[in-house]
Amino acid sequence: MGASIRRFQRIYPWIKAPLIVGAPMRVISGPHLAVAISRAGGLGFIGPGATPESTGDDLATARDLLEKNPFQDQKPITLASLLPHLNVSPFNEEGEGGEGGAEVVGGEVAGGEETGREEEAVAEEKGSEAATPQPETLPIGVGFQLWNGDLRTAARAVGEHRPCAAWLFAPRHGQPELDEWAAGLRQASPGLQIWTQIGTVAEAIAATAYASASETERTRANDGRGGRTRVSFYETSADVLVVQGAEAGGHGRARDGLGIASLLPEIRDQESVADAVRRYGVALVAAGGIADGRGVAAALGLGAAGVAMGTRFLASTEARVARGYRDEVVRARDGAVSTTRTMLYNRLRGTTGWPEEYSPRAIINRSWRDYYEYGVEYDEVKWRYDEMVRRTGASGNAKGGYGPDGRLATYAGAAVGLVRDVRDAGVLVKDIRDEACDILRGLTLLYPREPIQSDNLSILVKK
Ligand SMILES: Cc1cc2nc3c(=O)[nH]c(=O)nc-3n(C[C@H](O)[C@H](O)[C@H](O)COP(=O)(O)O)c2cc1C
Repeated sequence: MGASIRRFQRIYPWIKAPLIVGAPMRVISGPHLAVAISRAGGLGFIGPGATPESTGDDLATARDLLEKNPFQDQKPITLASLLPHLNVSPFNEEGEGGEGGAEVVGGEVAGGEETGREEEAVAEEKGSEAATPQPETLPIGVGFQLWNGDLRTAARAVGEHRPCAAWLFAPRHGQPELDEWAAGLRQASPGLQIWTQIGTVAEAIAATAYASASETERTRANDGRGGRTRVSFYETSADVLVVQGAEAGGHGRARDGLGIASLLPEIRDQESVADAVRRYGVALVAAGGIADGRGVAAALGLGAAGVAMGTRFLASTEARVARGYRDEVVRARDGAVSTTRTMLYNRLRGTTGWPEEYSPRAIINRSWRDYYEYGVEYDEVKWRYDEMVRRTGASGNAKGGYGPDGRLATYAGAAVGLVRDVRDAGVLVKDIRDEACDILRGLTLLYPREPIQSDNLSILVKK
């Protein structure tokens, strides 16, 4: 696990451990939120925009923010500095695969297994040879929903603006579609890290199948839209798997979700995942139900190299969210009863087309209770919803749009009960990180592997 965070720190030199990631919440995670999170030593992702084209605009704004106010201690990230640590192979450029190529990208290992330092040294050498000067990479990532995204527009945006990572979620056609996006985005922006959010053991196995496969299997024919070309796993595989537990806010697995405390370790135990971690330095990041330092410390104990949070950042000053929405996230308690997974709000909002494997978690309000508890006909529920939108305005801020008697969609996760105030995102990152560090340090003292000798104990007590 220590190796994974050190690898992260080499790829993203500004981050501080434990790594706290701002999830790419559609429209809500804008450039100001993403930059604030990264500036505080986390990694902020811009969410998918209202239209595929909005992503480019958000990335341009992020670049402006960073140019006007650069990170104090940020080392520039260039392709040359990234290549040695990337899950891409210089062998691709030579049109070669080969078993040897597989080892080149290895180097970091979770759980204190094999270190792969020799391979890493080879990679550094090859990386520096292969590197050509590139524009500086942005210290923020960008998220895409695949089912309604547009790969060409996305590739143009990452090629032009160079975010350091792309987070892929919700394909309509499973792993082959994720592969197509990973290859397309990497081609547009060499050095781009691919983060894939998954929510089941089966998805994790599909995402890492290459790692336990033979080299021939790892280079396979692909007859996707681009015609029949040889595709190697170097082009398609994810650098990071974000494991999304059923507690997560927004969209997640509709029927086969599992809590993060059992999902993450079970995924980590899969042979192909273990191989991907050990041989190729793939990292697991935990998401879902984590909103404070206690959750972060727990996730690290489960085997995560970092955590991603969405719901907690809804209550940040930089989130692009209506004030009423934000206040409701702060007000709501006990996510087990105050939130639920339901398609009702998508339907009311006219959001159609999500693959059936997904449904969103939202805070329960009048719309849901009318329909599910009081048996009000859908058309009437929709009429009342539309009326409320009309009365409260587009932002829904006017009295009544949000809250227990409101009717507007308030997507949020099961950890809402832990969100009790609105803070600047940078302050949140720092506070949560400090809390996690304190807990981890405390636990190490409480549960030493060997009994503490009385001499050592007195030293610790004096401190
Ligand atoms: C309001 C909201 C919108 C979200 N939108 C997206 C999205 O567009 N793409 C995505 O990959 N994940 C999205 N997510 C899910 C997050 O990536 C992440 O899995 C989740 O926020 C983690 O759980 P938490 O909300 O308990 O922190 C969204 C989450 C929320 C709360």
